[in-house]
Amino acid sequence: MVLDWKSGAAIALAVGVSVAAGGAFALDAQGQAAATTRHNNFKAQGAAFKGLLDELKKDTPDKAVIATNAAKLKASAAALPTWFVKGSGPDDGVKTEAKPDAFTDAAGFSAAAARLKDETAKLDALAQASDIAGVKGQVRNVGGACKACHDKYRVPEKS
Ligand code: HEC
Repeated sequence: MVLDWKSGAAIALAVGVSVAAGGAFALDAQGQAAATTRHNNFKAQGAAFKGLLDELKKDTPDKAVIATNAAKLKASAAALPTWFVKGSGPDDGVKTEAKPDAFTDAAGFSAAAARLKDETAKLDALAQASDIAGVKGQVRNVGGACKACHDKYRVPEKS
């Protein structure tokens, strides 16, 4: 199940490529499919982070649960840039919470994604070494990397 997002993205891409030849309507469908895949990937990423944080709150955190979720976060952070497929942004008529800048500010967005990749790699290294105190400290840096990107590239959530 860990790699579900990967097969999902691959399917969306394959479908997108095959419908792209069909014209403008098909292109919209392609963009929307990519945005839906992205949405699902972020939900999985959020669930992995929450699973890890919930485990840390316990008196005796299960190191295996922490290690599994940290590995998921690292993998999803590494893949994150590939979720922002061209044609799947708000300017393409796609329903998405991504701001247009996520697609146009390539340098800034790459830097924000790279920051998460670095922080989750550090988190995973600590988790695989069963350094729970280290993990507890590092989750702040990971959370900071999530927030920094959301503040800049995601439409604030409506209440
Ligand atoms: C490089 C930018 C970036 C980073 C880093 C990032 N996000 Fe996001 N996130 C986004 C964008 C943009 C959206 C909106 C996507 C859309 O609606 O198409 C989003 C959406 C989400 C959503 C909402 C999914 C839904 O239900 O629609 C969740 C949950 C989420 N992110 C969790 C996280 C977590 C947890 C982290 C850190 C571990 C993180 N994100 C790091 C850019 C980022």
